[in-house]
Amino acid sequence: MTALKVNGRIYSVDADPETPLLYVLREDLKLNAAKFGCGLGQCGACTVLVNGEPVFSCITPLMLLQGKDITTLEGLGTPEKPGAMQRAFIDEQAAQCGYCIPGMMMRAQALLESQPGADEAQIRKALAPNLCRCGTHMRILRAVGRAAKLMGSKG
Ligand code: FES
Ligand code: FES
Repeated sequence: MTALKVNGRIYSVDADPETPLLYVLREDLKLNAAKFGCGLGQCGACTVLVNGEPVFSCITPLMLLQGKDITTLEGLGTPEKPGAMQRAFIDEQAAQCGYCIPGMMMRAQALLESQPGADEAQIRKALAPNLCRCGTHMRILRAVGRAAKLMGSKG
C-alpha cells in the first residue's frame, strides 16, 4: 500500500510502486482531469503538481510520491466554485477540444504561485513544455495573464 496525499486528502493505494501516477489518479482515485496524451513526458496533458512543481504524471512512478503533496486540477476548484485559474480559462474561452487545458492550467498555476507577477514572456517560457494541437495558444496566454491579475489582486 502507498499513502498518497492528493488535493489535501490521504488515499491508500494498492498498486505496483512503479505504476505511473497518472494511472493511479484516473483509475484508482477517479480524478480524471489529468489526461493521457503521449505517455512519454512529451506533451504535458498529464501535468499535475508535486510539492508545487509541475511534473508529467505519466512518467512519475508511485514510489517517488510517498509523503509528497500532489495537486490536480480538481484541487483548484469545482464547477460550482472555480478557482482563479479555472475562472480565467472560462472567461477567455481558452479551450477548443480542451484536451491540453488541465495540464496547461496546472503548469500555469505552478508559475503564478512562485512568480505571481509573471509577464507574458515568462508565461510563454513556463508553458513551453505543454503542447496544444488545436493552436489556441493566444487564448491560453490571455487566460493565464487574466489569472495572474486575479491571483495578484488577492495577494
Ligand atoms: S501524457 Fe504525459 S507528457 Fe504526454
Ligand atoms: S485545446 Fe485542443 S489540444 Fe489544446
